[in-house]
Amino acid sequence: MSLAINGGEPVRRNPLEFKPWIEEEDIKLVGDIIRSGNLSSLHGEYNAQLEEELARYLGVKHAFTASSGTSSIHLALKAVGVGPGDEVITTPFTFVATASTILHSNAVPIFADIDRETLNLDPSSVESAITDKTKAILVVHLAGHPADMDGFTKIARERGLYVIEDTAQSLGAEYGGVKAGGLGHASTHSFYPTKTITTGEGGAVATGSDELAARIKLLRSHGETEKYHYDVLGYNYRLTEFQAALGLMQLRRIERIIENKSKFARALTDELRELDGDLLYLPHPRPRVRHAWHIYQMLLTDRAGINRDKLVDAIRAEGIRAVTVAYPVPLYRTKLFQEMSGHGLGCPWSCPFYGRKVQYKPLPNAEWASQRVFGILVSPHFTESDAVDVARAIRKTIKELK
Ligand SMILES: Cc1ncc(COP(=O)(O)O)c(C=O)c1O
Repeated sequence: MSLAINGGEPVRRNPLEFKPWIEEEDIKLVGDIIRSGNLSSLHGEYNAQLEEELARYLGVKHAFTASSGTSSIHLALKAVGVGPGDEVITTPFTFVATASTILHSNAVPIFADIDRETLNLDPSSVESAITDKTKAILVVHLAGHPADMDGFTKIARERGLYVIEDTAQSLGAEYGGVKAGGLGHASTHSFYPTKTITTGEGGAVATGSDELAARIKLLRSHGETEKYHYDVLGYNYRLTEFQAALGLMQLRRIERIIENKSKFARALTDELRELDGDLLYLPHPRPRVRHAWHIYQMLLTDRAGINRDKLVDAIRAEGIRAVTVAYPVPLYRTKLFQEMSGHGLGCPWSCPFYGRKVQYKPLPNAEWASQRVFGILVSPHFTESDAVDVARAIRKTIKELK
């Protein structure tokens, strides 16, 4: 049976799917650590080593490993003091963890609109969403492309706000020669398998501030200052030693990972160039930016007149399993934000400590993008010849569906 929807040979017989770059030496090191019995960061050296090398890579003073990208955002929000009665402005065009961690901090997410080209938060929309309750801006560097950090830094300085960079999708990206994650008060990272580097599940928080660093460290491990003494309400958000070792091995090849992804992205742009602006909008990194190519994001033009979900199904049927939609629904449209269920009893939205009524209204650019976007989750194993196959599958399916 053919994989292709309209019959004929599919573009690929062996499916093109995302795989992280893991070498035998990584597996051996992880095995050695497991055999050693030193599994926790409290009794080993690999977390400390990963933290040191990650901080150096990002060009910041401190980095702390954590159990996930999600727990990292929670730690950063708590470290800057986000709590009951506060608002945090963020994008609705992101993974849920960006906003759910604001709720876990008992604060209210306020969504601002995105830029149509980069699909990142738009500083002018953020500026108009600021109220006297705003505590922080949680910027996401989406799909590997850094957000407009000059804009956010200026607003934050003028309005006395914190900037936290959710760098889950953009480790290795650069903005004006500085690493994404090295520009705000704190940045958060994810080491989920599809991210630039992986530890299975895992993450990290980075900061240049000694004060924030001390709070992050305390919150990550039960708020414990000395054995069985707890100063603040903390968590167990630590990463295991064998995961940290895997992360360290990956970090040491990060430049090669990004170089491979960039080659694939350049080849795909070359292959699809004739459709750009006509049937598709291709990604164009802004000047002064290094793209980390987590996802090669494209948008269907109105002129294409094609149903995005049908196109994605058809591309997948051609054997391109790395095709993805990030994101089909702006977060404010999901049940959690529509019904404001949160912690129960209406918290945090209708708790007395908040005292303002929020209504989530559709944001035009987020609506526009979520209906048209699709992308290729870029694996470091993909080659220029894979890019040719992806482009063939896209051209073929567009032609069939048009
Ligand atoms: C933008 C963004 N933020 C946060 C996260 C959460 O990271 P994790 O899955 O490691 O908890 C992700 C993961 O997909 C993400 O894409």
